[in-house]
Amino acid sequence: MFLPHDKYRPIGFFDSGIGGLTVANAVVRYLPHENIIYFGDSAHMPYGDKSADAIRYYCLRIVKFLIQRGCKLIIIACNTASSVAYDVLVEFYQGDAQFINVVDPLVQAAAHDHSLKSIGVIATKATVQSGVYERKLLELRNDVQVKSLSTPLLAPMIEEGFANNSVSQAIIDSYLKDPKLENIDALLLACTHYPLIRKEIENFYQGKIKVFDSTDVVAHAVHKNLEQNNLLSDKRTQEHHFYVSDLTQNFEQTTKLFYKEKIHLEHLPIWS
Ligand code: DGL
Repeated sequence: MFLPHDKYRPIGFFDSGIGGLTVANAVVRYLPHENIIYFGDSAHMPYGDKSADAIRYYCLRIVKFLIQRGCKLIIIACNTASSVAYDVLVEFYQGDAQFINVVDPLVQAAAHDHSLKSIGVIATKATVQSGVYERKLLELRNDVQVKSLSTPLLAPMIEEGFANNSVSQAIIDSYLKDPKLENIDALLLACTHYPLIRKEIENFYQGKIKVFDSTDVVAHAVHKNLEQNNLLSDKRTQEHHFYVSDLTQNFEQTTKLFYKEKIHLEHLPIWS
């Protein structure tokens, strides 16, 4: 049961680092009256190379923090965490928190397009190993083929500021030429870092395939969820907060790329 004032409670977001800022930014642009709290677990980034058990352990602790901060809805703004920890979080925090993962909106957007027959997925190793995209896409559409490729260099490359230059284009091209992705008619950018290299991916395919990422589709899912629960805010009542579990100078600079405007990062060492 929600009370009338609950609509002013913040939306919580978390990711392994700053990739999820692409999702937070899309939500804030679409729903400018919402208050947000973001947590980037930079102390444990990247999640993509970690075991499912380690990722679940981190996520359980981060969600505890977001619940303590009164979040009305929690967005798992990381494909890796969404792939391996969503079910565990929903079960563990039943009744205490509502979650939106970034996998389902992306899967639904692609599945609804009946012109698509062969769908490629690029993601971290942990996301690809989880098999969650194949499973969910095939649940909705048994007439499609799903071809997944792990692209582990891309997230660290983007974090290092390599995007929209010849080096990043060469790395992207070399991944996309992989025979595993042959003859696809759509590609899902199944990592919240990848909206930053969407243009380069589109350059590679020269408009011949459809490209989906988890920004606008997640913003729409958030809107729908809040509307259904009567939780849409009609005014900003607090500052947004952006926390990271480990703070470096490099980070402050890179966040601007992800969030499209300068933000103030606050160090919150929840692991010490
Ligand atoms: N942003 C994370 C995701 O969406 C990837 C980065 C990482 O490996 O931590 O999967």
